Amino acid sequence: MKLIMTPPPVPHPTQSFPDNFVWGVATSSFQIEGAPAEDGKGPSIWDTFCQQPGAIADASNGDVACDHYHRLEQDLNLIAALGVDAYRFSVSWPRVQPLGHGEWNPKGLDFYQRLVDGLIARGIKPYLTLNHWDLPQALQDRGGWTDRDTVHRFTDYALGMDRVLGDRIAAVTTHNEPWVMAVLGHESGIFAPGQKSRAAANQVAHHLLLSHGLALQALRAQGSRSRLGIVLNLSPVQPATDSAADHAQARLEDGKLLRWYMDPLFKASYPQDVLDYLGADAPQVQDGDMAAIATPMDFMGINYYSRSVASADGSWRAETSGLPLTDMGWEIYPRGLSDLLVRMHRDYPVPPLYVTENGGAFRDALEGDRVHDRDRTEYIAAHIAAVGDALAQGVPMEGYMVWSLLDNFEWASGYAKRFGIVHVDYDTQRRTPKDSALWYAEFLRAQQAARADAGHLLVGA
Ligand code: FCB
Repeated sequence: MKLIMTPPPVPHPTQSFPDNFVWGVATSSFQIEGAPAEDGKGPSIWDTFCQQPGAIADASNGDVACDHYHRLEQDLNLIAALGVDAYRFSVSWPRVQPLGHGEWNPKGLDFYQRLVDGLIARGIKPYLTLNHWDLPQALQDRGGWTDRDTVHRFTDYALGMDRVLGDRIAAVTTHNEPWVMAVLGHESGIFAPGQKSRAAANQVAHHLLLSHGLALQALRAQGSRSRLGIVLNLSPVQPATDSAADHAQARLEDGKLLRWYMDPLFKASYPQDVLDYLGADAPQVQDGDMAAIATPMDFMGINYYSRSVASADGSWRAETSGLPLTDMGWEIYPRGLSDLLVRMHRDYPVPPLYVTENGGAFRDALEGDRVHDRDRTEYIAAHIAAVGDALAQGVPMEGYMVWSLLDNFEWASGYAKRFGIVHVDYDTQRRTPKDSALWYAEFLRAQQAARADAGHLLVGA
């Protein structure tokens, strides 16, 4: 007799979530769509960046990616099969407005109309992100986010999308992760557009925040019916040791990553310690900018993957911390998520919060039609539990979204890093739900059953 050991399933988090809690799954345009020049789409800065030798680890690009542009119906069915309440996606600005100003592209708009209508037909709420990094190259040629005029082009784009889709969109996010666009795109230059200037990066951050605030004002003036907000990538920053120098470094890095965005959004000012540190590289700010940035939001999203650790001499390495790592080399630290959420609620008058991205890259093996990604499943379960812990501590959490629906183009890492709960075979474009997807669907069924029970009790009462 052959004994087969089946590992026990990953237990569901035991925390309770409100009935109206929004469970979702997320993607972004450039990472999945492909079709870079089809039906009138203009080039984005990521199309250009991928052509630079050495920019992408596996020398790949977004030309095909998950071929989502051509497989929309199939992917919508996949999303529906998960049983999620919401799908977070982004619009490729150069697909709908090839030059970033002026003419709109009807075929590009039609794609997102079909996407949104397809979601609604399946009972899924569309959460739309306007800017998940793929700026029209034509605007980059005029200075991109370093140029103040891009702020106004973005507002026009936001208004145009609201006119076309606003009646059907649950929530609009202006920008995904301004820190990444500013710092990785313009200071370290490892992401598009690949600039290397600290002054430029800070000006970009300011323009992103300003365009967020002005877009909110313009959308409300136009009568937008969507809930409006922004998405930040945040982490708690911990000192590597108890030394005074490491504590000071952690405080500064917290300033650059978290307070640099949260202070203007909620206090209409930049943190003074970071301004002092930046000196002449601080951004140029005009009268009225800070008040515009602090325009109240209806919700806010946080993308959380790991903690951050600061050491004054830069010597700290994740590999030596003793915590398990994902395939990105990022520490698995769910506690950091609840700590972060509690701290944000304590320090700022935050609106309802979402975790708009959370997930892990792991080395997956496709075995027949299964991927036994227990590591990813455990990662997701532990982070959902952390959200539940934050809720129990009074943080106004309203939703959680897994990154990502599909394995996809992971920016400078190319296709080597897989974040999907659905496996993609890039040769055949075959989609295979991994165990994590099956687990998430099962967990959501249990949540829905709990909701139904609660409804039953209410009716019975
Ligand atoms: C975030 C991005 C998202 C994805 C994940 C892994 O920074 O918003 O597109 O690449 O990281």
